[in-house]
Amino acid sequence: MPDILTTTASATAEASSRLRRFLNCYWLRPENAFWMSLRSQALDAFEFDGPAIDISCGDGVFSFLHAGGDFDCEFDVFHEVGHLDRVRDAFADMFDHTTGIYSPQVTTPPNWRMDIGTDIKPNMLLKACTLDFYESLVEHDNNQVMPFENDSFTTVHCNSAYWVANHERFMSEVARITRSGGRVLLSVKLDSMRNYNLSAHKAKLSQRWLDIIGRGRIESWPSLCDDETWKQRFKSAGLEIVSRTPFITRTHAHIWDIGLRPIAPLLVRMANNLSADTRREIKSDWIELLDELLAPLNQPSFDLFAGESDPAEVLYELTPA
Ligand SMILES: C[S@@+](CC[C@H](N)C(=O)[O-])C[C@H]1O[C@@H](n2cnc3c(N)ncnc32)[C@H](O)[C@@H]1O
Repeated sequence: MPDILTTTASATAEASSRLRRFLNCYWLRPENAFWMSLRSQALDAFEFDGPAIDISCGDGVFSFLHAGGDFDCEFDVFHEVGHLDRVRDAFADMFDHTTGIYSPQVTTPPNWRMDIGTDIKPNMLLKACTLDFYESLVEHDNNQVMPFENDSFTTVHCNSAYWVANHERFMSEVARITRSGGRVLLSVKLDSMRNYNLSAHKAKLSQRWLDIIGRGRIESWPSLCDDETWKQRFKSAGLEIVSRTPFITRTHAHIWDIGLRPIAPLLVRMANNLSADTRREIKSDWIELLDELLAPLNQPSFDLFAGESDPAEVLYELTPA
């Protein structure tokens, strides 16, 4: 019994310190911080044996934090953003922007490094480059054939598979570049997400209201599908399922659905117009508060509804059949 208690207490402390590292980077989108922290918790069961590739790595901050890295409290992803005026109505990506002065202050280097990172957005790759976490970064559109030899990687990681329109090509390319006995780690959203929002109340809320909250995110995920369809896709690509880890419940997804998304561009503008001292003080108080508020949510099985339901995101471990 004491052993179990000790393990539980240390797992909770570990989860809490991970959440704080994610909050430091994503404080103005706390709903993304807890989601990413849970994604990272689920990935913890796996070693990233090299050669390892991070497909659609973005700015690399997620994988850097997952690998145990940490940044100074001065750093967060909201400093280096652009076209904030087009985020709300044109669905522009505020992070797809860099001025060349982006330089994250690393306080703890990651415990391991990734061999390759890829992404379709050059600005994100420029940001990822500053982390010194990837041996090499490659601009690549996942709808196209990947610029890697067959059997190149022992670990293939991607948490953005549902962003790819040509999912058949993407899955077969993932299988092709993975070595026999290697491991593919895919975190995939499920289309249960379409129900974990307030669209059933459209008559009372209006389509405009739902659009302000939604900000076109479901439309950015052309290959979102149900669990059975993901399983079929893996099978058709010649990938066998080794394990399946659900880690986001409908409660997480409902909280995330509202979150701070609609006001994020305004919060970012406000934060970035404060003096450095005031920004630092508010950020620190903000993280203290959010840390406490998010603590109960910070476990993969957290659910406030009665009865069973589909998860919103699942981590699949796959291997070439
Ligand atoms: C939600 S972000 C995740 C980024 C990163 N993996 C992370 O966890 O922070 C999705 C990423 O997919 C990339 N992406 C979208 N469509 C893509 C495509 N067709 N090919 C390659 N990358 C794509 C975007 O540029 C973005 O960096």
